Amino acid sequence: MICRKTFSLHYCVFCLGFSGVGSDKVLVMEGDSVTLNTGVQTKHQEEIKWYFNNTRIAQISGDLSFICTDVQCNEGTERFRHRLKLDHQTGSLTIMNTRNTDSGEYKLKIFSRSNSEKIFIVSVSGVSSAERDEVKTVEEGESVTLDPGVVKNPNDSMTWYFNEILIAEITGDQSKICTDVQCDERFRDRLKLDHLTGSLTIMNTRNTDSGEYTLQININNSSFSITRVKRVNVTVTAVPGSDLSSAAVAGIVVVVLLVFAAVAAAVVYCRRRIHTAVQQDEDDDGNSQPDPNGIPLKEDASLNQPQAETASKTI
Ligand SMILES: *[C@@H]1O[C@H](CO)[C@@H](O)[C@H](O)[C@H]1NC(C)=O
Ligand SMILES: *[C@@H]1O[C@H](CO)[C@@H](O)[C@H](O)[C@H]1NC(C)=O
Ligand SMILES: *[C@@H]1O[C@H](CO)[C@@H](O)[C@H](O)[C@H]1NC(C)=O
Ligand SMILES: *[C@@H]1O[C@H](CO)[C@@H](O)[C@H](O)[C@H]1NC(C)=O
Ligand SMILES: *[C@@H]1O[C@H](CO)[C@@H](O)[C@H](O)[C@H]1NC(C)=O
Repeated sequence: MICRKTFSLHYCVFCLGFSGVGSDKVLVMEGDSVTLNTGVQTKHQEEIKWYFNNTRIAQISGDLSFICTDVQCNEGTERFRHRLKLDHQTGSLTIMNTRNTDSGEYKLKIFSRSNSEKIFIVSVSGVSSAERDEVKTVEEGESVTLDPGVVKNPNDSMTWYFNEILIAEITGDQSKICTDVQCDERFRDRLKLDHLTGSLTIMNTRNTDSGEYTLQININNSSFSITRVKRVNVTVTAVPGSDLSSAAVAGIVVVVLLVFAAVAAAVVYCRRRIHTAVQQDEDDDGNSQPDPNGIPLKEDASLNQPQAETASKTI
């Protein structure tokens, strides 16, 4: 620190000195949101500044007269593009939807009667969307288990949603399943939550259980917290043969084919009869010209014949 070289240590402690220099390693996965805590409860006097690799990225003054994030703090360099959130009460900084390029050193400086400084070393590791999002297929009536894909720490909280309806929740040593009416109507007594791992089992699955399940994981550390979202798409398929709806579909197909075949056969039969009748009339009327429609009519009939045969073979 410059002041230490220039002034006495005594002076620094009371004006520019920063105490409590420590660093926390924060490991996040791409796409996570991470909140870096100031540890300040309610800031009245404090001024808080955040730096990323020594560039100021956020600042808030105690009386809220000055607040800036990202590009507002340093014109022309937008690194985070609407992904920074500053808690007006505590000055804690949230980086949403993290990317690889967010890895680096985040320095917190708190200016008050006793100045302090803290460093967070954030590393963002990449994940493929296939790792994060899962797809599961299950036959109707069977059970399916959805796994969080992370080892649960007792301090983490986990919340499962189905199409945005809260269906299960673990916070500390408390867990809740289906407290919501919508959830209860749909899943009554068919959900099982593993309190230790956070995995959710849907028993005796129904067609209507198909959809998107999301798990929100809050990783809680006293100096930072991480929010991770995992998605599992579940498709409940009908059991072949034994399912009512598939039998009904098969039945409709058969009926349609039968009707088609009957109509085709009727058309062929009628056209033949008309054709024969016309020819007979012509024969009776000795001097008439041959009917120009006679030949196409005959061709039509012969064209229809194989179709009718195909239709009846299909059945
Ligand atoms: C920030 O600093 C770290 C090393 O401390 C470096 O790996 C990273 O690339 C830097 N990021 C940017 C955007 O400058
Ligand atoms: C859980 O949180 C408490 C209080 O912050 C802490 O003392 C404890 O070490 C944490 N437990 C684990 C396993 O991280
Ligand atoms: C995180 O832990 C702190 C105590 O260490 C607790 O007050 C807070 O409610 C926890 N948050 C969540 C989301 O579990
Ligand atoms: C919080 O994270 C730091 C750094 O990663 C670690 O040393 C500490 O044990 C963690 N504390 C809790 C309560 O999990
Ligand atoms: C899951 O389903 C949603 C729509 O229901 C879709 O947008 C999303 O791409 C699907 N995800 C995967 C991994 O298949």
